[in-house]
Amino acid sequence: MNAYKEQVRQEWTESAGPWGRWHARFAEQFSGVTELLVAAAAPTREMRALDLACGSGVPALPLARRVGSLVATDLVPDMVKIVADSARAQGLGNLTTQTADMEALPFEDAQFDLVTCRFGLMFCPDYGQALREIHRVLKPGGRAAFVVWAAPDQPFFNATSGVLMKLAQLPAPPPEAPSPFRFAKPGSLSDALSRAGFAQRDERTHEVSMPFHGTPAQMWEVYSDVQRAIFRRFEVALGPERYQDAVKQIRANLEAHFDGKSVNTPARIHVAWGVK
Ligand SMILES: C[S@@+](CC[C@H](N)C(=O)[O-])C[C@H]1O[C@@H](n2cnc3c(N)ncnc32)[C@H](O)[C@@H]1O
Repeated sequence: MNAYKEQVRQEWTESAGPWGRWHARFAEQFSGVTELLVAAAAPTREMRALDLACGSGVPALPLARRVGSLVATDLVPDMVKIVADSARAQGLGNLTTQTADMEALPFEDAQFDLVTCRFGLMFCPDYGQALREIHRVLKPGGRAAFVVWAAPDQPFFNATSGVLMKLAQLPAPPPEAPSPFRFAKPGSLSDALSRAGFAQRDERTHEVSMPFHGTPAQMWEVYSDVQRAIFRRFEVALGPERYQDAVKQIRANLEAHFDGKSVNTPARIHVAWGVK
């Protein structure tokens, strides 16, 4: 495993505990995003599906209710275990799990009718390789569906981690380097699907409301726990005092987006699909 991927594996292993703890909260807040992905995936009961970078189980768990069978995979064994435990608890006997790097999928050619990946492809050092792997394991006519972030200048990031990004003034990663915003440029994921051999493809940008049903203090508790590995990097870069200023600003932003019931920080995403 190369050094970058080992770092990704370690950071997400560290995040697995909080992701498992707060899964229900995040699944609810991001449900609009999941609905758009499920619509792009067009699942049917006859399908054998594969979810990549499954994290704590979205969209794997809701999708398993809509397809014949589903294999949920992630680079990080602790994430895969969360999904296996949830599937068992929810009686989803058609969901199996496997640790897998999406750049080297441990499956024979032409095994799946559907591949999904929400907020995962952007972390691959060689996303072209991942897309070729997805294409390889799809049956002819099979479909792949993705969600990626649009540009960071959007309410969700401006209210939260964008505060840290601005204060730290870290240089923007080179366009081809892995980052959450790797496919922010409209059409870039659709172009990548084309290069990987997908015959038909589509990409659309959506504004999605993402209400956090709770107080700003509760959202901060959840969010700072889930993002702790990233926030620690910012704390080192900024020093403790400036980091605490940023935290104050984020908490004030969450208050400003609170309507008395929910914290409303809409997101902008791209949803793309391709057919083999
Ligand atoms: C932002 S989370 C997305 C989780 C879930 N799909 C969701 O939308 O809530 C990113 C996930 O990508 C996984 N990941 C990163 N690089 C990967 C790779 N090369 N192959 C498979 N999974 C990877 C991480 O372990 C992490 O669980």
